[in-house]
Amino acid sequence: MQKTLSIIKPDAVVRNITGKINAMIEDAGLRIVAQKRIRLTKEQAQEFYIEHKDKAFYDGLVEYMTSAPVVVQVLQGENVIEDYRKIMGVTNPAAAEEGTIRRTFGESITHNSVHGSDSPESAAREVAFFFNKLEIFE
Ligand code: RTP
Ligand code: MG
Repeated sequence: MQKTLSIIKPDAVVRNITGKINAMIEDAGLRIVAQKRIRLTKEQAQEFYIEHKDKAFYDGLVEYMTSAPVVVQVLQGENVIEDYRKIMGVTNPAAAEEGTIRRTFGESITHNSVHGSDSPESAAREVAFFFNKLEIFE
């Protein structure tokens, strides 16, 4: 079984649609094995998105991700990293496939409702960033 890190981002938390997103995750057969609502600090957001630190959108992304609480969660499934990226849709909601979370709920390329790890390496780093083993129940 594989695990991935999902974040329900501020735009979705503010609109009170975390349950609708969780329903899409569960309807797709993925299992939420850990979940908590937190407010990222600026330092945490900067560190989490460190791979993007030289991009033009980095400062805006950090500001956005700290603007309201988020729901961080660990998802489990046989091929969950790839499966969740498919269910999320591509970064820009306008370009995402019909029926994906971002196409359904995303507001813009930054306010795109969800995050999902993009590789086994990033999943391992990102799950450990927010959760310890005692917080994950399979
Ligand atoms: P994520 O990491 O959140 O799952 O999204 P992703 O892989 O599809 O996108 P990535 O390239 O890793 O970018 C991380 C997040 O930064 C914001 N972004 N804004 N204004 C822009 O051009 C821009 N590009 C990316 C999005 O919130 C994106 O999810
Ligand atoms: Mg990414």
